[in-house]
Amino acid sequence: METTGMMEAAGAAEAQNKAPRGVRDILPEESWKWAYVSNTVARTMADFGYSEVHLPIFEHTELFSRGVGDTTDIVEKEMYTFVDRGGRSVTLRPEATAGMVRAALEHSLCGQNAAGKLWCWGPMFRYERPQKGRYRQFYQFDAECLGLAGPVADVEVIALSAEIFRRLGLRNLEVVMNSVGCPNCRPRYRKVLIDYFTSKKDVLCGSCIDRLDRNPLRVLDCKVSGCGAVADSAPAIYEHLCDECSAHFEEVKAGLARLGFPYKLDKRLVRGLDYYTKTAYEILSGDLGAQNAVCGGGRYDNLAESIGGPHLPGVGFAAGFDRVVLVMEQQGNSFGRRPQTQVYVAAQDDAARGAVQIFTHKLRQEGISAEQDAGDASRGTRSFKAQMKSANKAGVPWTCIIGGDELAKNLVAVKNMTSGEQVSLPPEEAAAYIRRYIG
Ligand code: HAM
Repeated sequence: METTGMMEAAGAAEAQNKAPRGVRDILPEESWKWAYVSNTVARTMADFGYSEVHLPIFEHTELFSRGVGDTTDIVEKEMYTFVDRGGRSVTLRPEATAGMVRAALEHSLCGQNAAGKLWCWGPMFRYERPQKGRYRQFYQFDAECLGLAGPVADVEVIALSAEIFRRLGLRNLEVVMNSVGCPNCRPRYRKVLIDYFTSKKDVLCGSCIDRLDRNPLRVLDCKVSGCGAVADSAPAIYEHLCDECSAHFEEVKAGLARLGFPYKLDKRLVRGLDYYTKTAYEILSGDLGAQNAVCGGGRYDNLAESIGGPHLPGVGFAAGFDRVVLVMEQQGNSFGRRPQTQVYVAAQDDAARGAVQIFTHKLRQEGISAEQDAGDASRGTRSFKAQMKSANKAGVPWTCIIGGDELAKNLVAVKNMTSGEQVSLPPEEAAAYIRRYIG
């Protein structure tokens, strides 16, 4: 009894001291890289005419069950759903598309002739088995082009995602594409598929047999090897598309060829969300292992209606932020320059500490990153020697020293830590002097 109690207490302590399984802290070693990626994403989105929006992290559960689809893994097994204090069922967003369409409808963000081109980024939540590149709280950047039904929009969306990855220097990527048809042609294909898979039922895994009637397209992307072999020989949807879907697919392929984008057709690509119509695509990385998709997207012309809105065609993509950073690290890509402290301001004696405080603040106001010893009498201040040691340890390129002499003459001693060169200047000139060097 005693032991169980102790174990429970230990478990509780561990639970308090550690982040829950599948979620992680993005610490300073990594966060500056995220800032670089998000800046690049923001610039590219703007170049393609997308406006940023910030969406809520939780929505009514129904938005996802109706939008993403009741029979998807996401809705069936992966959502973080809870009843709030007002008795409503809400869900932490597992993806952004449904919320984006909801927001566009709620705020009339696209008119009759004006496309709504919107993007967002932030955390998404799915209760999945954590592994490399797969987390329960992960981040996506997501772009949605609403109101355009033609294939040019599909090509633009695929080109936008590829351009972001080009600017980030990602290599070894592959664009895979399929058409998943529409409510006109899919039922026919569904029947062809059910007939085909039923004839191979003895080889299929339990969940595929389960899915066969409800969602036979999902059998196509089952990862179990027996099912995979059967799915490889299954009839391809693009041989069963209606005229409209077929023409759309041809024009998307022609558009990609026009822009010089290599892609591979993958008849087994159906995506894990039910809202897709026509184009579905993914961008895969050769450097990620099992979770190799850095980006997924496609067209969803009936999503707005399925959540109770009017007809509003749409096409978009979402990319896994965590995975993009992972691939960039693995490929040794540049994240630009890590923000670094430029100047350490040191007080030679206690009498100079006030002047150090004023000068440090002045540098910061001028946009020069500066540090000082922020200790005080109660917690102990650092000696001049210890301050210089801190400056060396931080690897700052400049130190500014203020002592009795400098105080008397209203000067600051500016030392270049690389060359060892030192000059004494009035505070206003000292900032300008450093600025000339660091740009
Ligand atoms: P998705 O394929 O579910 O699509 O997710 C898009 C990307 O998010 C994936 O390719 C992957 O990079 C990343 N991702 C997904 N789950 C995880 C996870 N557990 N851990 C880390 N990264 C993950 C969607 O979410 C659709 N809303 C995309 C879309 C937008 N379609 C049209 N518009």
